[in-house]
Amino acid sequence: MSEKADRVVKEMKEMGWEDIYDNEAMKIETYNKKSRLKYYTQVWSAKWIDENDIVLDVGCGNGELCGYAEDKGCKRVVAYDVSQEALNKAKEYTNPKIVEFIKGYAEKLPFEDKTFTVVTCNQVLEHLKDDDLVIGEMLRVLKKNGKLIITVPIGNELDGKDNNSKHLNKYDYNNVLRKFQVLGDDFTISMIPKFKDKNVQGVHKLTNRINCFGIVHNKR
Ligand SMILES: C[S@@+](CC[C@H](N)C(=O)[O-])C[C@H]1O[C@@H](n2cnc3c(N)ncnc32)[C@H](O)[C@@H]1O
Repeated sequence: MSEKADRVVKEMKEMGWEDIYDNEAMKIETYNKKSRLKYYTQVWSAKWIDENDIVLDVGCGNGELCGYAEDKGCKRVVAYDVSQEALNKAKEYTNPKIVEFIKGYAEKLPFEDKTFTVVTCNQVLEHLKDDDLVIGEMLRVLKKNGKLIITVPIGNELDGKDNNSKHLNKYDYNNVLRKFQVLGDDFTISMIPKFKDKNVQGVHKLTNRINCFGIVHNKR
C-alpha cells in the first residue's frame, strides 16, 4: 500500500497539484469567526462531531470545520491539507493550542492506526487521482466506533451528471454506496441526499447540483 501511495503522491506532485490548490486557496474567502460553518456541507458534517471527539479534517481548506470543532471543545483537532496557502488561511482564525496544522497528501496520512474518533473529508474525494486509496487511509486512522464523514458532489438534477471538468472522479449515489458496501458489516452507511436550510450559504446550488453525504461507522 505504501508503495502505491508513494507512486500516486509522486504523480500528483508532478502534475503540479500543490500549486493549483495554493492558487485556489488564495481565492478562498478568508474565514470569519462570525460566519463559521457557512457552507451546507460543513453544517451537515458538523452535526456528527461532539466535544469528546478527536478530529481529523482531510483537505481542510480554509478550516471552517476545524474552527467549529475547536468551538465545540474537541480535545484534539488536526487540519490537514496539501496546500500551505489553505493551511495559512485556516491558521488565521483557529486557536493553535487546539488545532494542529499539517501539510501533506491524503494518500499517505502521517498518523498511527486508530488515532481519531472522527475523520471528515468534505468536497475532496472528487479531486483525487485514487479516491479508494484515500478512503482506505482515512479508515485506517479511524478508531473503533469512529465516524468517517464524507461529502462529495454528485450529478445535477437535469441529467444526473457531474459536469465539473475539474473533478477527476464523478459520483452518483450508487457508486458512493458501493465503495462502502464492499467493506462489509463492520460499517453502516447513511446517505443524506439533500440539505434544506435556506439560511445556509450554498443551498441554492441544490437547484443544479446535488451533494452526497456519507457517514460510515467503523465498528472494528
Ligand atoms: C474543494 S476544497 C474543500 C475544502 C474544505 N474541505 C471545504 O469543504 O470547504 C478541496 C481541498 O482539498 C485539498 N486537497 C486536494 N487534494 C488533496 C490531497 N491529495 N491531499 C490533501 N489535500 C488535498 C485542497 O488543497 C483543498 O483545500
